[in-house]
Amino acid sequence: MIEIGILTGGGDCPGLNPVIRAVVKASLREDWRVLGFRNGWKGLADDEFIILDDKSVSGILPKGGTILGTSRTNPYKKTGDVEKVKSNFHKHNLKALIVVGGEDTLGVANRLCQEGLPVVGIPKTIDNDLSATDYTFGFDTAVNIAMECIDRLHTTAESHNRVMVVEIMGRHAGWIALEAGLAGGADVILVPEFPMSIDEICEVIKSRHKRGKTFSIVAVAEGAKLKGGGEVADQKLDQFGHVRLGGIGQMVGEMIEKKTGYETRVTVLGHIQRGGSPTAFDRVLGTRFGVKAVELVKQGKFGRMASLQGRRIVDAPLADAVKQLKLVTSDLYEMAKIFFG
Ligand code: F6P
Repeated sequence: MIEIGILTGGGDCPGLNPVIRAVVKASLREDWRVLGFRNGWKGLADDEFIILDDKSVSGILPKGGTILGTSRTNPYKKTGDVEKVKSNFHKHNLKALIVVGGEDTLGVANRLCQEGLPVVGIPKTIDNDLSATDYTFGFDTAVNIAMECIDRLHTTAESHNRVMVVEIMGRHAGWIALEAGLAGGADVILVPEFPMSIDEICEVIKSRHKRGKTFSIVAVAEGAKLKGGGEVADQKLDQFGHVRLGGIGQMVGEMIEKKTGYETRVTVLGHIQRGGSPTAFDRVLGTRFGVKAVELVKQGKFGRMASLQGRRIVDAPLADAVKQLKLVTSDLYEMAKIFFG
C-alpha cells in the first residue's frame, strides 16, 4: 500500500485542520494511507506519528489549531536530526511528505527536497508574508478577529474620549494590521515596512481632534518600528533565530499620551488572533490546498507548493515561496493613508 506523510510546523493557524482533513480524504480516494507526524519536524525526527483515517479527521473542519500538534523545531539546528528525518522517511517507504508551514518550515522542506526528499508544500501563516501565493490560509481569520477587536475598541474609545492603541501580530510584514486597520477604520496604521515618527503619528491624531473628533484608534503591527528606531522585542530566540516581538504598542501609547495629553490605553491582541475556528474563506482555502497537494504528489511534482493566484489554485516552486518575504507594498500603504486622521 502506498503511504504518504504529513506534518504541520511553525506557529499554529486556523485552517490547519481543514488542510489535514482534505489531504486525508483525497488520499483515501487514491487508496493511500496517511501518516501524520506529531509536532512539526520533531515528529519526523523522533518517528512519532499517528495513522490518519476517515475517523481521525471526522469533525475537525471547524476546529482551530492542528490535531497533529506543531513546533518550531528546525532539524538543521540540531546535530543528527536531518539524518533522523531522512532515515524515518525511508524506513516507512513514504511516497512523499506534505509539509504545511510558513517561511521557516517550508524553508526546511525546500532544503530537504534539494537533498532528494520528495516534498510538497502548503502555505500557512496568519502573517500572509509568504511569496508565490496571493494568500496563505489563517490570514483571513486573523484579520477578521483583529477587525472585530478594533470595532469593540471604537465604542469604548468614543465613550471615554481616549486614544486606543492596538498591537496586532505581524512579525516582518504588516498585512494583518493593514487589512484589519482598513476594515475597522483605524485612524493610523503602523507597519514594519513604512516607519513613521512619533511626531507624524501625533500630528494625525491632533488634526483629527481639531476636526472635532474626541477619540482615535491606532493599529500597530508588532514588528513596526518608529522612524530611526528598531524592533521592540525581548532577547529570547526561537530555533529559527527569531526574537520574540512585543512592546511597540505600549511604547507608542506612552509616547502619544505624553506628547498629545490625550488619555491613552493599549491593547495587545496576541494569540487571540491565532486561536479558534477558521473563517469560511480559510476553511475553503485550506481544503483546496490540501486537495491540490495530493494531486501534486500523484503527478510526482515534488519541490512544488499549492498556491492561490487570483481565484485559482495552482502550483509554484517551493524555492520561490521561501526566497524572500512578501511585504506590504507602497501603493497599498499610500492608499491606506487616505483614511488616516
Ligand atoms: O508567525 C506567526 C506569528 O503569529 C507571528 O505573527 C508572531 O510574531 C509569532 O508567530 C508568535 O510566535 P509564538 O507563538 O511562538 O509566540
